[in-house]
Amino acid sequence: MAAAEPDSAAAPLLELRGVEAGYGPFRALFGVSFALARGRVLALLGSNGAGKTTVARVCSGLIVPTAGSVWLDGTDFTGRPAHEYACAGVVHAPEGRSVFATLTVEENLALTFGRSRGRAGTGAALEEAYAMFPRLGERRRQVAGTLSGGEQRMLALARVLVEKPRLLVADELSLGLAPIVVDDVYRILATIRDAGTTLLIVEQHVHHALGIADDAIVLAHGEIAFDGPVSELGDLHERVLGGDP
Ligand SMILES: Nc1ncnc2c1ncn2[C@@H]1O[C@H](COP(=O)(O)OP(=O)(O)OP(=O)(O)O)[C@@H](O)[C@H]1O
Ligand SMILES: [Mg+2]
Repeated sequence: MAAAEPDSAAAPLLELRGVEAGYGPFRALFGVSFALARGRVLALLGSNGAGKTTVARVCSGLIVPTAGSVWLDGTDFTGRPAHEYACAGVVHAPEGRSVFATLTVEENLALTFGRSRGRAGTGAALEEAYAMFPRLGERRRQVAGTLSGGEQRMLALARVLVEKPRLLVADELSLGLAPIVVDDVYRILATIRDAGTTLLIVEQHVHHALGIADDAIVLAHGEIAFDGPVSELGDLHERVLGGDP
């Protein structure tokens, strides 16, 4: 192999190096660096406004860093458009994944699965989605716009999760869902993790996220305050989350 070629098998799936990012003149991230190896689950924690969503957007190419770089499989993706991240298997959920309000549950799902799996594969994908969220199966003929808020989020999630992305960047996946549905969502995340999807989880329900995560990052004011295994986190996240100045 030529020296300049990235060794993609050895490189982490995702790596941020010295990332700075913001909104106009406002700087939200300061020198954020971390790596996420294939098959790992990383929880991104921090108080409101710490920069978690900004990091998530950088990871899926939705925000271009003003300094530093973003690497996927050892290849520099900095500045590439978001669809190239998507082609590399990075899915940002559930933002930008809202449902088609005038179509039924099944039409929504069939539209998504038909694109990725063709007509022949759509039936099996529908069954997978209904196994994940039985409520969607019961309501398959209901127009999506009349589903409850939580059911619409289930539908948006099913569209993403059945695709089994290589890297799922999940920003507040369980926001607005009833606790029992949050439990379902985490069971499904564990299943897709077992099927080989790498996960980056931003979550308000910290105990849920830490229940599934191997590693954690705590962000404070746009900087990394902790980066390591969940077992070494101790009560740091509680101090950071509770100690917002
Ligand atoms: N579109 C935007 N325009 C201007 N400032 C923004 C924008 N989005 C976020 N910010 C600012 O960037 C900082 C980090 O925001 P971010 O959304 O990343 O935080 P967060 O950790 O996800 O917070 P939360 O837990 O409340 O979701 C905040 O100070 C926020 O006000
Ligand atoms: Mg956020």
